[in-house]
Amino acid sequence: MLTDAQKLEALANLGVELNRVADLDLLMERILTEARRFVNAEAGSIYIRNNEELDFTYNQNEVLQKRLPVGGKLIYSTFTIPIDKNSIAGCVAHTGQPLNIPDVYEIPQASSFHFGREFDEASGYRSKSMLTIPLTTARKSVVGVLQIINAKDDQGNIVTFPESDERIMEHFAATATVALERAQMTRNMILRTIRMAEMRDPKETGAHVNRVGAYSVELYEAWAKKKGIAEDEIDAQRDILRMAAMLHDVGKVGISDAILKKPGRFTPEEFEIMKEHTLFGARLFDDRQSAFDDAAAEVALNHHEKWDGTGYPGYVDTATGRPVEGYIIDGQARGKRGEEIPMLGRIVAITDVFDALCSKRVYKPAWSEADSLAVLEEQSGRHFDPELIELFFNNLDIMRTVRKRYPDLKETGQEIPRRTTTNI
Ligand code: C2E
Ligand code: SIN
Ligand code: SIN
Ligand code: SIN
Ligand code: FE
Ligand code: FE
Repeated sequence: MLTDAQKLEALANLGVELNRVADLDLLMERILTEARRFVNAEAGSIYIRNNEELDFTYNQNEVLQKRLPVGGKLIYSTFTIPIDKNSIAGCVAHTGQPLNIPDVYEIPQASSFHFGREFDEASGYRSKSMLTIPLTTARKSVVGVLQIINAKDDQGNIVTFPESDERIMEHFAATATVALERAQMTRNMILRTIRMAEMRDPKETGAHVNRVGAYSVELYEAWAKKKGIAEDEIDAQRDILRMAAMLHDVGKVGISDAILKKPGRFTPEEFEIMKEHTLFGARLFDDRQSAFDDAAAEVALNHHEKWDGTGYPGYVDTATGRPVEGYIIDGQARGKRGEEIPMLGRIVAITDVFDALCSKRVYKPAWSEADSLAVLEEQSGRHFDPELIELFFNNLDIMRTVRKRYPDLKETGQEIPRRTTTNI
């Protein structure tokens, strides 16, 4: 167990550490682990506010974890509870006050809230002491709830959380809240960036961006299932890939209007300039602070590479645009080929072209689905990864559903859905 002095020191360092973790899922895992270590508790959960409800979003339980094979993942179903006085977490979110309960099975009848036993009944775990703390912003709004379960003494007996733990956990919750708000801001910034890129290049509509995002997720999922990648890892990738794919052309914000909005075909010189949108995009995510940044940079940089090595930008230094030593052919950067092209780049290469072909552009009319599919088929093994093309055709029905879900509208002003993600 940590002494109070050790706890205070660890707490002082924690703010710095949590600020380094930009990826939301990693961040929440980290918060739970640290929170439990601080007060020597067996289990913990984080609920995140979603309007007038709380989503049970993250959960850890070392007792249940020990019953699993090594490396096994705790599977728990997510659920939602209303923010009102009827449940423990709901009440804490409602009042903004913490609750420190010695035994959740001995809550006085007169209490407005009661303990929902369903989780214990389903898992065979016995919850007893429970410390529930609101995650409250400086502006007094509750963004979530941190719940820590079953404090242990040095002998491993379950005890009531001491009052000193309450205060330390409140400091802790404040730090966690800042980190959560930051993550939420990052996500909103991403959505805003997508809207901005759309306004810049009116021929790429919200519908196109949404479709490329959705096609890409479907294609990734088909590929990941084929490779036997675990369901929860696929789930974790979905939102990241969707947003990264939606941003594939965000680097076009660095291309002048004269080129971007040219109503006809490009000259070779104009096309050379347009090719730089891949580098501009990659540079936007250069700081690589999260799994999302990595994915977005990978997609922006690689979505115009071709399987046979004839795409762009090839092996260049992203910062300068100069060819990388050892990959220079006739003074030009050699294109990446085959599996040298990162997976997400190979996926978006297909989904972007398919959708560009099916859609009207200032420089071309919309093609029929059949003509567009013929290009994919014909370019399998040339422009595109043949394995992915096969999966695309195997999942055509799903792709058609996507097209129906995001139709091109005559009017502009199409909206990106507010909630493209499940968390927050
Ligand atoms: P985009 O319009 O989103 O097109 C994405 C990709 O779809 C293109 O990448 C290309 O691989 C494919 N594609 C689009 N239209 C056609 C087509 O009519 N025939 C064939 N075979 N493939 C097509 P690419 O060529 O690297 O172009 C990148 C971006 O540069 C395009 O994105 C578009 O914004 C712009 N662009 C390319 N050529 C022209 C042009 O001649 N005039 C104008 N105004 N913009 C162009
Ligand atoms: C974030 O860092 O919170 C947003 C990116 C992501 O989905 O991980
Ligand atoms: C809570 O009430 O704090 C969460 C739901 C439950 O387990 O009762
Ligand atoms: C664009 O307007 O260039 C498309 C938006 C995007 O893909 O980020
Ligand atoms: Fe592009
Ligand atoms: Fe595009």
